[in-house]
Amino acid sequence: MDSRAVNKLVLIGFMGTGKSSVSRELSEQLGWARMDSDDEIVLREQRTIADIFSSDGEQRFRDIESEAISDILHREEPAVVATGGGAVLRERNRALMLEKSFVVALAADADSIIARVSQDEERPLLQGDAGARVHALLEQRRGAYDFAHATIDTTGMSVKDVARDILQRLHDAFETGKSIE
Ligand code: S3P
Repeated sequence: MDSRAVNKLVLIGFMGTGKSSVSRELSEQLGWARMDSDDEIVLREQRTIADIFSSDGEQRFRDIESEAISDILHREEPAVVATGGGAVLRERNRALMLEKSFVVALAADADSIIARVSQDEERPLLQGDAGARVHALLEQRRGAYDFAHATIDTTGMSVKDVARDILQRLHDAFETGKSIE
């Protein structure tokens, strides 16, 4: 990534690691727009993510997700971008994120993830026994978020603290001029 040209901060991470709430806080603090790949998909398709999964299947969802991410990352305006937990699964998405943005991975332990997703709206990949699905998917995606420029374990942290930590890392990365490719 060319640090002089970067005006996007992308949050990646497993479902329930706080990407949405942290992106809201960061967008406020930075005065940058907030974008969300899941919202973009729903807007484009005019149907819910659960509908896309059930009518067209996960692979079609991933195709739409890749288009949405590419579209967002090619926009001119500065933005904080929250991505869906599976957005990292395709190499093309990972490469574009690294090229166009400062990528921050949010992590959390399985118990906090399960507690957070249990309060939330339905997620197609967590139907049935959500706890067991979270454990299985965490295992399947082990290492999938490691390509980020920075990783923060949000377990037990407030949204404001996570945002502060990210802003510090962003500052450090650009301030020191260190290579974050
Ligand atoms: C998914 C995560 C979801 C959403 C879809 C698939 C995943 O987003 O994109 O249900 O594969 O991990 P959140 O991480 O915002 O829940």
